[in-house]
Amino acid sequence: MQVRELLKTILVLLRSNVEQWTRLLQAALPDHRIIADLAAAGDAAVPYAVVGKPAPGVLAAIPGLEVLFSVNAGIEGLLESGEVPPGLPIVRMVDEGLAEGMLEWVLATTLAWHRNLFDYRAAQRAGEWRPLAEILARDRRVTVLGAGHLGARVAATLAGIGFQTRVWSRTPKTIAGVQSHHGAPGLEPAVARAEILINLLPLTPATENLIDRTLLSRLAPQAVLINGGRGRHVVDAAVLGALDDGQLRAAVLDVFREEPLPATHPFWTHSGVYLTPHVAALTQATTAVAAIAENLRGFEAGAPLRHVVDLARGY
Ligand SMILES: NC(=O)c1ccc[n+]([C@@H]2O[C@H](COP(=O)([O-])OP(=O)(O)OC[C@H]3O[C@@H](n4cnc5c(N)ncnc54)[C@H](OP(=O)(O)O)[C@@H]3O)[C@@H](O)[C@H]2O)c1
Repeated sequence: MQVRELLKTILVLLRSNVEQWTRLLQAALPDHRIIADLAAAGDAAVPYAVVGKPAPGVLAAIPGLEVLFSVNAGIEGLLESGEVPPGLPIVRMVDEGLAEGMLEWVLATTLAWHRNLFDYRAAQRAGEWRPLAEILARDRRVTVLGAGHLGARVAATLAGIGFQTRVWSRTPKTIAGVQSHHGAPGLEPAVARAEILINLLPLTPATENLIDRTLLSRLAPQAVLINGGRGRHVVDAAVLGALDDGQLRAAVLDVFREEPLPATHPFWTHSGVYLTPHVAALTQATTAVAAIAENLRGFEAGAPLRHVVDLARGY
């Protein structure tokens, strides 16, 4: 019992897969005590919590909380909830599984549009043999908004396939085969005449509603918008208007202002909208636990915590 009390406690505050997360964390961090219920802590401090969307009041009740590990890459929900005690470091999820998942989703959607698969499906349904002009990736302009853990990986892979690839980020990037633009002045040259626009930005006051009518009007006519970031990056009415007047050929949307997408939202029925239910990149417990464990072990050995959210930047 004495030994147990020396173990540092990690509280798993998740709504699903709690048993799996608890088991994997315990296996990865055998010298820690993993609990899924605060009551199990007894009188002991609980320095670490692993959270998704904690219920009101829960975080404030955790004694001795030092670090919050988010299971999500986007942490705007945590920040906006007002539930995070002031000064508490939040570690966002930076995990290989997440990056691989997003890469797969973006590649699937980008290549499907690049090679006209949905048009051929429609032609097949109509019983029509209808060859379209097919261009190579090297002749297709693609822009990725956000060049972080997810965006940089996506951009590098698209460039590797041959796409003419640009990225836009806050600070300049060096990614093989990719043209980097940054900051507010870099947005226009980053998106000008893009035929496929992929959004992988975090949601902050600076990026909210960024994809509006003006930005969409800078793309090539009949461009494709692929949004894997957050719903609030996009002005819904601007997307619908751009689809209706031909500025956009299609909008592939994984994320929405309100989720689940309300039944009456026009995105459900618009022929130019292709939606997936926020599944582009799901946090995989196996790889995510490994990422948390590695970060925590380094921290306890005296290294700085990695991937701590910068509250001033908002991501
Ligand atoms: N749909 C899904 O299933 C799903 C899953 C996971 C994540 N996501 C979304 O993807 C987002 C990105 O994740 P990540 O791990 O790649 O984040 P990240 O590593 O923090 O990268 C964010 C990128 O956005 C850039 N950026 C931020 N604010 C900017 C601004 N005002 N102007 C220009 N560029 C700006 C950053 O620039 P710097 O590099 O210069 O800092 C960075 O390149 C998450 O925040 C989340 O919203 C969605």
